[in-house]
Amino acid sequence: MSAQSVPTQARPLVIAVDGPSGSGKSSVSREVARRLGLEYLDTGAMYRAATWSVVEAGIDLADAAAVAEHVRNLDLTMATDPTAPGVRVAGHDVSAAIRETRISSIVSKVATNLDVRAEMLKRQRDLITAGRNGTHQGCVAEGRDITTVVAPDADVRLLLTASEEARLARRAKELHGSADAASVEATRDQIVRRDSDDSTVSNFEVAADGVMHLDSSALDFEQTVDAVLAAITRIVTGSVTDLDEHARAGAVS
Ligand code: DC
Repeated sequence: MSAQSVPTQARPLVIAVDGPSGSGKSSVSREVARRLGLEYLDTGAMYRAATWSVVEAGIDLADAAAVAEHVRNLDLTMATDPTAPGVRVAGHDVSAAIRETRISSIVSKVATNLDVRAEMLKRQRDLITAGRNGTHQGCVAEGRDITTVVAPDADVRLLLTASEEARLARRAKELHGSADAASVEATRDQIVRRDSDDSTVSNFEVAADGVMHLDSSALDFEQTVDAVLAAITRIVTGSVTDLDEHARAGAVS
């Protein structure tokens, strides 16, 4: 599908999306970026790549100073084309390795290291504003603290949530191919425990002031993408300026 038109503006359009695991924020943000012809930045992948590299280097995760020092020196490249996103560490493609359970189960230990977060904040801001070759039209950046810390001045800020039940079912299907009781239980650690650990350093469960909230529990993928695109268009064209009107317009509040 060709890129949908968004009103052109002098500076790059920044769309910030936060949400818990399984809210659909990665796949939805990527598709929204693709349709709008914008860059896509998966900040969770950056924490995953950092974790992969720390493990690879044999560093003790409990040694916060050594972990932070390693991350400050990390040779990390993020490909931000939404049709071909990818992650490289020292030129090595780690896009698949960072999704393995051995990384998912420990990534919070690295993501809750405040010195690691400070380093990532700098890199994420650079990627959002510069993009590829410094010439992009804008970026959809997603994570846990994009609306609040990394890009609080983004043009559009959105918190995408879904009920715990919906999130568990979606992730179980993704990881195990089904959402039966055993698969849901096997997924619980990755969703519930990890979000609880992560929420000690960032708030991604309640929308901060000025951040729109979209609950996708009852929406499928296409409906969620459409709701996000509609909200972006309304905000960018300035047709709705009051957040209460977003709420009246649909699932967005
Ligand atoms: O979204 P994800 O599962 O790929 O995120 C990986 C980890 O990074 C997870 O523990 C949450 C954390 N994270 C974060 O703390 N801040 C972000 N902006 C993005 C992800």
